[in-house]
Amino acid sequence: MKIGFIGLGIMGSRMAANLLNKGYELVLYNRTREKAEPLLELGASWADSPMDLGQRVKIVITMLSTPEAVGETALHGRHSFLDTMSAEALWIDCTTVNPSFSRRMAEEAAARKIRFLDAPVAGSKGPAEAGQLVFFVGGSDQDVETARPLFEAMGKAIFPMGGHGTGSAMKMVNNIILGQAMTAFSEALVFGEALGMTKHAIFDTLASSPVTAPFVNSKRRKFEEDDYAVEFPLQWMHKDLHLAAETAYEAGAALPGMNAAKELFALAKRKGLAEEDFMAVYKVLAGKQ
Ligand SMILES: NC(=O)c1ccc[n+]([C@@H]2O[C@H](COP(=O)([O-])OP(=O)(O)OC[C@H]3O[C@@H](n4cnc5c(N)ncnc54)[C@H](OP(=O)(O)O)[C@@H]3O)[C@@H](O)[C@H]2O)c1
Repeated sequence: MKIGFIGLGIMGSRMAANLLNKGYELVLYNRTREKAEPLLELGASWADSPMDLGQRVKIVITMLSTPEAVGETALHGRHSFLDTMSAEALWIDCTTVNPSFSRRMAEEAAARKIRFLDAPVAGSKGPAEAGQLVFFVGGSDQDVETARPLFEAMGKAIFPMGGHGTGSAMKMVNNIILGQAMTAFSEALVFGEALGMTKHAIFDTLASSPVTAPFVNSKRRKFEEDDYAVEFPLQWMHKDLHLAAETAYEAGAALPGMNAAKELFALAKRKGLAEEDFMAVYKVLAGKQ
């Protein structure tokens, strides 16, 4: 089956590679063409624009940075793909966006008789590479079943959450924990170091403790070696918390802790850490940046 894939950043390039390795024929588009080259060498083909891609496939997967990037690629630009996809084709948006945006994209798709799933993922660079992502999916059961083999090629678990926007809603819920767990752990690390402990001793003690979020252990080596090379860009953590704040406003929910964490990521961005890993928020708390 021929699949269109748009957005070949940290996550998208690895997800597309897994589809290719599982035998899917891929048509690729990325704003920066060079990022597609390794996959083109493996046999994928290139589309000159999202519009060109849309007319060549029956399923399009997007893995872009922000709602704005999705809107520009799907709808606004003269090169958008939604206008060239055929009726009954399926668009799967894996970008982390807010649920009201996903519902709007579902409406835009439906107006063109195109089916839509919001299917953001949990899991970072490593799980994306290993085909171990977790998909939170919003849309009809029938469309989930159509997409299931693709999710299985890229991930280890699929959670159908309900109608359009519910996949994105679950992702917001997931990421307000992720952002706060990172700031909470970083703060504890800074506190422990101020009390004379080493990072090594703190990790040894807390690694298997129930108070530590398990994902933090996957960052242990990076914390100990002050290696902030990007896996999950700090700027996208900030974006996700901003979208969660917007979503909470729409839903009438209060997120005081999340908003405090969000502002730490804003501060880190102002200090030039946008493109480092989101663990770089530790540097701000430690006064190292
Ligand atoms: N990294 C993670 O650990 C992780 C985990 C779960 C979910 N996510 C989410 O997954 C999505 C992708 O993350 P990522 O880490 O792969 O980000 P990334 O490496 O920064 O890649 C972003 C992608 O979006 C494209 N893009 C950005 N702005 C664009 C625009 N205005 N028009 C067209 N294309 C545009 C980029 O194109 P260029 O190559 O031309 O820049 C690139 O393909 C984000 O929504 C993120 O929140 C990330």
